[in-house]
Amino acid sequence: MRLIFLGPPGAGKGTQSLLLLQRHGVISLASGDILREAIRGNEPIGKEADRFMKAGQLVPDDLITGLMLDRLGKLAKNQSFVLDGFPRTKDQALALDAWLIEHRHKPVDLIIDFEMDEDKILKRLEGRRICRTCGASYHMKNLVPKKPGQCDHCGELLQVRPDDQPETIRRRFVVYHRQTEPLLEFYGSQKKVRPVPGDLEIEAQYQALVEVLKKERLVA
Ligand code: AP5
Repeated sequence: MRLIFLGPPGAGKGTQSLLLLQRHGVISLASGDILREAIRGNEPIGKEADRFMKAGQLVPDDLITGLMLDRLGKLAKNQSFVLDGFPRTKDQALALDAWLIEHRHKPVDLIIDFEMDEDKILKRLEGRRICRTCGASYHMKNLVPKKPGQCDHCGELLQVRPDDQPETIRRRFVVYHRQTEPLLEFYGSQKKVRPVPGDLEIEAQYQALVEVLKKERLVA
């Protein structure tokens, strides 16, 4: 299965792609995680991306497209995957389509649109914490680490994501509406978009996602 997860910041794309990996072996390529990893590793691409991300803006198309297509190319040809956060502009979508046709002879199967009200997202993102070393994501109420303030995986300290300040989140909403939402029309014309509510509890949201995938015969 080849999926794209779309939806506003904080609607649960990363959380649901992790569950799909754990329960169905679907590899997740999360553009934001890959960029944050490059920032933590002091890589030139990370240095270039950092200022855009801190400002709540999209990084340039050529930078993210090169990075994501390179990662895609490293997956086995028949590997199921979800693209979490990519594409986010029409140019990225066109580049992805062309790459898939050339290298996999098949386009994406489905676009999942996680729908959620912005006020609820703002409230939700107040509670997000990420590990400053490995990037694992938690929530103070909904996905609590075993030891307060510490990562379950590496024991390092958790922190607020730099772009989770309310002002920056609002800017990310604006950017989402302006640059990414038009993709719903683009993929909608191919009849590939399926909505999933973002404001359910994590497990209920997962069940709603799996229902959609079952209907499309992408999971048994
Ligand atoms: P990215 O990291 O992709 O951020 P985003 O799209 O803004 O999405 P988030 O990670 O904020 O939210 P999410 O929907 O994954 O929610 P999550 O599951 O984490 O991108 C960051 C930046 O990188 C961009 O602003 C841009 O600068 C750059 N970038 C990335 N891709 C790019 C591209 N293609 N082109 C250009 N630039 C790009 O959940 C959020 C929190 O809520 C967590 O704490 C979680 O535990 C909790 N939670 C999740 N689900 C639920 C639930 N159902 N109920 C209760 N709590 C929940």
